[in-house]
Amino acid sequence: MTTYSTAPIGGQKPGTSGLRKKTPVFMGPNYLENFVQATFDAIGGVSGKTLVLGGDGRYFGAEAAQVILKMAAANGAARVIVGQGAWLSTPAASNLIRARGADGGLILSASHNPGGPNEDFGVKYNMANGGPAPEAVTEAIYARTQEIAEYRKLEAPDVNLTAIGESHLDAMVVEVVDPVLAYADLMETLFDFKALRGLFHEGFTMRMDAMCAITGPYAVEIFENRLGAAPGTVVHETPLPDFGGMHPDPNPTWAHELMAELMGEGAPDFGAASDGDGDRNMILGPGCYVSPSDSLAVIAANAHLVPGYAGGLKGVARSMPTSAAVDRVAEALGIDCYETPTGWKFFGNLMDAGRVSLCGEESFGTGSDHVREKDGLWAVLMWLNIIAARGQGVAEILADHWARFGRNYYSRHDYEALPTDVATAMLDDLRDRLSGLLGRAVSGLVIAGADEFTYTDPVDGSVSARQGFRILFEGGSRVVLRLSGTGTEGATLRVYLERYVPGPEGLDEDPQAALDPIIVATEEIVGIRARTGRAGPDVIT
Ligand code: G6P
Ligand code: ZN
Repeated sequence: MTTYSTAPIGGQKPGTSGLRKKTPVFMGPNYLENFVQATFDAIGGVSGKTLVLGGDGRYFGAEAAQVILKMAAANGAARVIVGQGAWLSTPAASNLIRARGADGGLILSASHNPGGPNEDFGVKYNMANGGPAPEAVTEAIYARTQEIAEYRKLEAPDVNLTAIGESHLDAMVVEVVDPVLAYADLMETLFDFKALRGLFHEGFTMRMDAMCAITGPYAVEIFENRLGAAPGTVVHETPLPDFGGMHPDPNPTWAHELMAELMGEGAPDFGAASDGDGDRNMILGPGCYVSPSDSLAVIAANAHLVPGYAGGLKGVARSMPTSAAVDRVAEALGIDCYETPTGWKFFGNLMDAGRVSLCGEESFGTGSDHVREKDGLWAVLMWLNIIAARGQGVAEILADHWARFGRNYYSRHDYEALPTDVATAMLDDLRDRLSGLLGRAVSGLVIAGADEFTYTDPVDGSVSARQGFRILFEGGSRVVLRLSGTGTEGATLRVYLERYVPGPEGLDEDPQAALDPIIVATEEIVGIRARTGRAGPDVIT
């Protein structure tokens, strides 16, 4: 028997990046099966197709992979290429889909959310271009979950995913591959590995915190084995089902061990961290934190120093809440700069159409058209290659960048797990008052514009409305507010603060101090503390 009857389960709506729920929800009867079958149905079935499968090693990932393999076989798939141990980082999965010409792939991860029996799990479908499914597809998947009546799954023993090689599930080939090899080889084609080996040979020191997540094996292979960084350069390098209790999100709050090391005495020359599934990155120098928006701008300004980008960039793109630092670089380079909604999926069309080669988001995501996902280790290698080519450290490169382009002071304040009704009422109320804000002076700042961001994809014309509130102040400062699309508990309000200082004066302030007038004005306009009863944000990045 391969066909099982089922009934729709509510709430299976993919968010910013796939379907994410608490692990026990995913482990509930038919929950995973319904979503996977709905995905297969929504993409026109998988009969005769080749899929890629893998995830970040979190709790329930290996079991979920077995379920998906048996469902793919019962649905007639020809081949599934799966990372050994059901492991694949998100960028490595994107690369495998592209390199092997697969029809798509399933990634088992809840990214930077904690993992474990009571934490988060997730499933995301990626297309043949290696990128996350666009909204039309995720909406079709959601629609299908609401009418599903049966799913197909083979009755078979589990497949051995520990040994590399091919086996069969009924007529379907299961090909277990080394999760690291093809990705590490791709990195060798983009970066000057010889120069990087030289850098480490001369004694350059680095700390890479893999946060007990999937980047560990990739980072050890690339930095320690191929580039000769000292053994032990990569810490927390073994992926664990619960990430060793860590919250695998590379930001100053959650990567606090790395922060303490880089901000302390005897810090290494360079520090970096990645998230659960390996697509995010945080960049640090001794005593110096690089904001993701600045990192994107610095990478854009220096990409020509890196072999894979020596011919120049086609264009760049950033999500709307990301600072405009990269816009200034694009202007100087004479290339286009696109502003998209939050979510990597919006970059796919621009990259496929050859309009951009570099993309980034304030949420610690940076990447290029070498794959169709953001890529944590790629960003680390970009910085290392730039450091090697310029012979300067992180702080010098940043200071030089600000002196040339001015500085976009930037910070994000998150209010987590708010009651959903309180958060939506607050933003609904702001929407109603938006047009009346124009011209008002608040805490000494004059409001020069206020709207809700709508994006029209320049490639396929699709429209995405309600992508965040923007309040612009005279002089180029702004605040953006939106609700997170990746949280699994209540609503998370994100407040993005930005202020531009052209220099040469005032380039070395503390960002929170530099942004204080905007923080005060935002409270006056939106009333976050007053309406939520919170004293302040839970996370500041
Ligand atoms: C994921 C997506 C990113 C997005 C980020 C923040 O990492 O891949 O593209 O920027 O989530 O999303 P959120 O909706 O939580 O602000
Ligand atoms: Zn991630």
